[in-house]
Amino acid sequence: MLKGKRILLVVAGGIAAFKSQELIRLLRKHEASVRCVLTEAGAKFVTPLSLQALTEDKVYSDMFSLTDESEMGHIQLSRDADLLVVAPATANILGRMAAGLADDLATTVLLATDKPVLAAPAMNVRMWTHAATVANVETLRQRGIHFVGPNDGVMACNEYGPGRMSEPAEIVAAIESLLSAEKPPLEKPPLEKPMAGKRALVTSGPTREAIDPVRYISNHSSGKQGHAIAAALAQLGAEVTLVSGPVNVPDPAGVKVVKIESADQMLDACLAAGKVDVAVCAAAVADWKMAVPAGSKLKKKPGAAPPALELTPNPDILAALSKPGAKRPTLVVGFAAETENVVANAVEKRTRKGCDWIVANDVSPATGTFGGERNTVHLISAQGVQDWPTLSKDRVAMQLAGAIALHLTRPRPAEAAE
Ligand code: CTP
Repeated sequence: MLKGKRILLVVAGGIAAFKSQELIRLLRKHEASVRCVLTEAGAKFVTPLSLQALTEDKVYSDMFSLTDESEMGHIQLSRDADLLVVAPATANILGRMAAGLADDLATTVLLATDKPVLAAPAMNVRMWTHAATVANVETLRQRGIHFVGPNDGVMACNEYGPGRMSEPAEIVAAIESLLSAEKPPLEKPPLEKPMAGKRALVTSGPTREAIDPVRYISNHSSGKQGHAIAAALAQLGAEVTLVSGPVNVPDPAGVKVVKIESADQMLDACLAAGKVDVAVCAAAVADWKMAVPAGSKLKKKPGAAPPALELTPNPDILAALSKPGAKRPTLVVGFAAETENVVANAVEKRTRKGCDWIVANDVSPATGTFGGERNTVHLISAQGVQDWPTLSKDRVAMQLAGAIALHLTRPRPAEAAE
């Protein structure tokens, strides 16, 4: 179906530029013609000569080439195609496209075109999730630019997450459906399963500590973040047990869910889950329970003072799971819900509880974290503090699951020596 179609391929400067050559090969195999615009940065990764050999056409780079302009003006270049494809679409070129810049041939062509544009982003995961890139992509989407990818995976920079350029075959599939006027296949391909064969335990939601048969002590935890982490670990192939307090969010697919009420029950369920490779304690466990819950409803007595509630501490599940020994998970991850001195308190909490990582988040009411859709977290490990941008809870979960997978499957020398 691509036979006779004309593709103008913009190759920008990223490590994924090497895949553009395979993309050209595939497109030519499908009998499409390909013409390339190579940016100055792109030419640091692939040579004009190799693109010329593969496309059997001239490669365009220079905005001010008199010969090029007389033979084929940049406006004609931008329109003499059925589709423009930007692959790799770096953070830089997406930013320039969003800003409407025309400071080189590639952006000028993209600004001047009246044809559909498909971008295949490729960049470091932090660059992809940076607020600036997120806003640029949103702007471009609203203007009708189509996207394919990026995929999740281990990146050249040894980080895990979204940012890897789609494979050439996926880009060809996206081109085919765009040119056949179908909805482009923006859904991501199946994720890699780096956690296959690993067991994970996740705690989530609040606990309820009975005062009497009808009243309890609890907190505002919605369980959204913990449930999203369980779902993300399962998507990466882990066998996941989720121990959850009472929540209104649905059970994640592909996860064994154990429903409990109190902290004591949560601890028992965690211990019953057996040996796991990673434990993530995202639950907001009530710190105290009644020393002796009343067996029947506490009644108001006319003129009498309100009852004094005698409290006793709950078991600390995170600290219990972090205890050294044969049963200890390889990696124990805690959360720190803080309302002030977020990072400092969390750093101290990591040492006190004996876990490996702490995900610190500000839960003061103004942030809307409790029950909200987004979260701003800091990942604290023995190596230091990583500040993550504000992300959806699902994205925090996938990024954390990815970091866990990377840690469990590809320990770095520095961490192995810890
Ligand atoms: N946690 C736990 N069991 C408890 C209390 C907390 O497993 N009884 C875990 C939480 O799931 C979280 C971490 O410990 O992973 C920190 O929880 P947080 O409420 O922030 O800290 P606390 O230990 O309760 O300390 P504080 O309330 O003094 O900040």
